[in-house]
Amino acid sequence: MAQPEFDDAKHSSGALVASEEGESLTSKLPRREGWWRPLFLFQGSWITPQVLNSAMLVQAQFKPRADDIILATYPKSGTTWLKALSFVLANRSRHTVTGDKHPLLFQHPHDLVPTLEVPDRALRPVAELEARPSPRLLCTHLPHAFLPSGTSSLRCRIVYLCREPKDVLVSLWHYVNKMRPDFFIEFDRAFELFVQGISFYGPIWDHYLGYWKQSVTDPDRVLFLKYHEMMADPTKHVKMLAEFLGVPFTREEESANVPEEVVKLCSFDHLKGLPVNSVGRSDRIGGLPMDNSSYFRSAKVGDWRNHLTEEMANKLDCVIEEKLKGSGLIF
Ligand code: A3P
Repeated sequence: MAQPEFDDAKHSSGALVASEEGESLTSKLPRREGWWRPLFLFQGSWITPQVLNSAMLVQAQFKPRADDIILATYPKSGTTWLKALSFVLANRSRHTVTGDKHPLLFQHPHDLVPTLEVPDRALRPVAELEARPSPRLLCTHLPHAFLPSGTSSLRCRIVYLCREPKDVLVSLWHYVNKMRPDFFIEFDRAFELFVQGISFYGPIWDHYLGYWKQSVTDPDRVLFLKYHEMMADPTKHVKMLAEFLGVPFTREEESANVPEEVVKLCSFDHLKGLPVNSVGRSDRIGGLPMDNSSYFRSAKVGDWRNHLTEEMANKLDCVIEEKLKGSGLIF
């Protein structure tokens, strides 16, 4: 992320100063309405001023460590699942996967792995991320180019999970319409914006390509996963993920079916049914309490068939195919 005019010293005083700067910065940027907040085009990505502020604070204050692991996703691509799986895998020497006191049984996956760019920094000051012991498991929706400088040179590992774009759109549409009682976007309108690349952190194809290219040139540093492939064979992917996170399964664990137990513990049906994920509301981004259940809808591969006409599906497929052409990334 090329640095905007930005004064580190000023920003150490907190989110308010950054918020004023973010607002004056965004006032000069292309702006589009339609989603639940206006989006601004900053360095090729559509972003809210709140997230831009937060990303700038992270750029200024966050110090990456070589053993950081960053889980990166485009929103609604399976972030919650990836957080759950990675947390369970990385912490299984401390928390037995089958134990009845496992943190995942009592804490929402989003509360177990912090997100770098929380829109309201007061909810999670960067200092709190700094205070976390190594190795840190962190999460982000930021495009690759916006990651804190140093993550590349330090060779922090990144796990990127992507999803079939039509299913992302459907999941996103359901989600944003739960965000505020006074907001509703028609599916057709959401579709038109999405096809033009105008959606949170979008265009989605650029988000995908940013991480995809890194995974092709540096596969030891960036693991690129696809949601529908993980759904088709979760155990294989859990083993792959464990290997990448530096905590491969031992022979004893394999014989004791620990990989299968991880899959079960983190499965959609299991997580969705837990009280911590099905009851109550939490404000994880600032000023926007969401039902804890809103991260667990249907988890179906191909749910787009229930929402898009054939014409819409063809249109989006063509755009995605064109944008990804030559990259080797296909859906
Ligand atoms: P649907 O809306 O299609 O059901 P994110 O976590 O990035 O916000 O993505 C949310 C999507 O992931 C939702 O998709 C949600 O149902 C699905 N999901 C949540 N937990 C999951 C899990 N454990 N396994 C598979 N999919 C999951």
